[in-house]
Amino acid sequence: MDPNVRPETMERITTPELAQAFIDEQIAAVRKQVGDKKVLLALSGGVDSSVVAALLIKAIGDQLICVHVNHGLLRKGEPEQVIKVFKEELGANLIYVDVTDRFLDKLAGVEDPETKRKIIGKEFIDVFAEEASKLEGIEFLAQGTIYPDILESRDGIKAHHNVGGMPEEFNFELVEPVKLLYKDEVRVVGKALGLPDNMVYRQPFPGPGLGVRCVGAITRDRLEAVREADAIVREEIGKMDPTPWQYFVAIPDVKSTGIKDGKRYMGWAAVIRAVDTKDAVTAKSVEIPWSILRTIRDRIIAEVPGVNRVLWDYSDKPVSTIEWE
Ligand code: XMP
Repeated sequence: MDPNVRPETMERITTPELAQAFIDEQIAAVRKQVGDKKVLLALSGGVDSSVVAALLIKAIGDQLICVHVNHGLLRKGEPEQVIKVFKEELGANLIYVDVTDRFLDKLAGVEDPETKRKIIGKEFIDVFAEEASKLEGIEFLAQGTIYPDILESRDGIKAHHNVGGMPEEFNFELVEPVKLLYKDEVRVVGKALGLPDNMVYRQPFPGPGLGVRCVGAITRDRLEAVREADAIVREEIGKMDPTPWQYFVAIPDVKSTGIKDGKRYMGWAAVIRAVDTKDAVTAKSVEIPWSILRTIRDRIIAEVPGVNRVLWDYSDKPVSTIEWE
């Protein structure tokens, strides 16, 4: 039996009971695979790696070493939540590295979207590899691979980096406890493991983070404006029922004229985007009620330094990709 093929007899995990049965089964499987050896995990705070971390903490306790890399492009409150939930509440063996300066220095003046992505991806692997090389006796690498990753890489839709792009010299054996699960099942398992709702039902967030929403060459002040405006939009659009599939803010590197306290006030335009989609291949702009748009506008203008205009990007994909870069 191919371990990367979901058996037809496997029941879809839709209830806490099915989730618990899966958790018990995986705890036993991981203990058998790993024995008394150590396992390393890059914990981003996204749904998949968070669920794997919570599962492995149950299975092997402090034989799991989590590394949370803060590249400075995370959303407001995210690194703090990872530390609170995993270190303080679940007692994880968590290494936190703040490499914001290193990333922003490398990205300074870089305008091209693909070059930005490449720099962010490469630096991330370098930082993770550096942290791994400081540790002794690691034999396993845990990953939040899920079933669509396996299907998409098999169909050639996207290359799934099975070892997270880790340099070959590390030679880790993989631990991938949720690799046969679909996203909705991962969330049910996450709930059963006791993870908070805002982690389990988190919207998709690109690996390069706010870097692709701070459009053009990233500067610290505009990046902070993206982070603050994004937090406001997540809070306000989060009140819609149902919430859109993905909603966020981008701020392009353009200033326009404004007026504040009787003086000229050159500022950026914060662009709101909210979309619904099944698979992110195509997407429809979501209608946001005027009352919410108005609150967002007033809050961003009042609370986010450097922004003097709020726009709504209501384009569909195609032709407009979900992210601006
Ligand atoms: P686009 O912009 O291509 O985005 O319409 C489709 C979905 O993918 C997310 N996205 C990424 N996710 N790494 C990721 O893990 C990336 O580099 C990346 N770029 C886009 C995007 O947020 C949307 O949900």
